Amino acid sequence: MTELIMLHSFRGGTGKTNISANVGALLAMSGLRIGLIDTDIQSPGIHVLFNLDESSVDKTLTSYLWGESGIEEAVIDVTESLGDKAGGKLFLIPSSIKASDIARILRNGYSVTLLDEAYQRVQDALELDALIIDTHPGLNDEILLSMALSNTLGIILRPDQQDYQGTSISMKLAQNLEVSDIVMIVNKSPQLFNEEMVKSKVEEAYSGEVAAVVPHSDEMMALSSAKLFVVEYPDDPLTGIFKKIALRLMT
Ligand SMILES: Nc1ncnc2c1ncn2[C@@H]1O[C@H](COP(=O)(O)OP(=O)(O)OP(=O)(O)O)[C@@H](O)[C@H]1O
Ligand SMILES: [Mg+2]
Repeated sequence: MTELIMLHSFRGGTGKTNISANVGALLAMSGLRIGLIDTDIQSPGIHVLFNLDESSVDKTLTSYLWGESGIEEAVIDVTESLGDKAGGKLFLIPSSIKASDIARILRNGYSVTLLDEAYQRVQDALELDALIIDTHPGLNDEILLSMALSNTLGIILRPDQQDYQGTSISMKLAQNLEVSDIVMIVNKSPQLFNEEMVKSKVEEAYSGEVAAVVPHSDEMMALSSAKLFVVEYPDDPLTGIFKKIALRLMT
């Protein structure tokens, strides 16, 4: 069975895209077949971590949602970006980065039930061990649908009062949707904070599990989403934390 793993946050900029890509990369390096799908149709970004631009992306999730292509045609094999360390496979399904496509989808919308079909099709066609869904921040129809479909939901938050409030809303909704496995990931924790204390404070506040507290990292920030952290810094403690997250999301 394919694990459907959704990474979500109520507020923007928490690290969903970077965590999705790095966790996906680690799982593929460990020998698994992993898909990454960019459902952030309004502001797509995960392709950037794989050095893809408008000229290298043709068919997309967006064109599938309009019935202009099959979802299988939108799959890009990005295993090469893991260097020679890949034991498995990493596939990316990007959203369109054309301004006209984004304007069109904002104006006309799309049928969110098509997403369910897209997940099923890529899982089967690519024989995936896991499909990781990178999402738009906040809550909308497609987020709720994806939540309801996912086996594991990772809610990402920063140790910030605005994130805390938003996270409680996401948690409640996910519980109402009966998502079977919900886990929180605290990202960008200032080096000044004690990680164990942050973990127990968040676990207590939400009566939920924190998979990991990821510290703010200047190296990560400096990579500026241009590369995969775990490939550039395989021995960094942050890579160890990403491995812990990857393992947790797969169980
Ligand atoms: N632990 C970290 N330490 C330092 N910088 C980080 C860390 N995690 C992510 N970042 C940086 O934060 C920025 C936002 O990350 P990212 O795009 O992954 O967030 P996002 O949640 O996907 O954002 P959006 O909601 O806009 O989609 C990026 O510049 C990224 O490099
Ligand atoms: Mg993002």
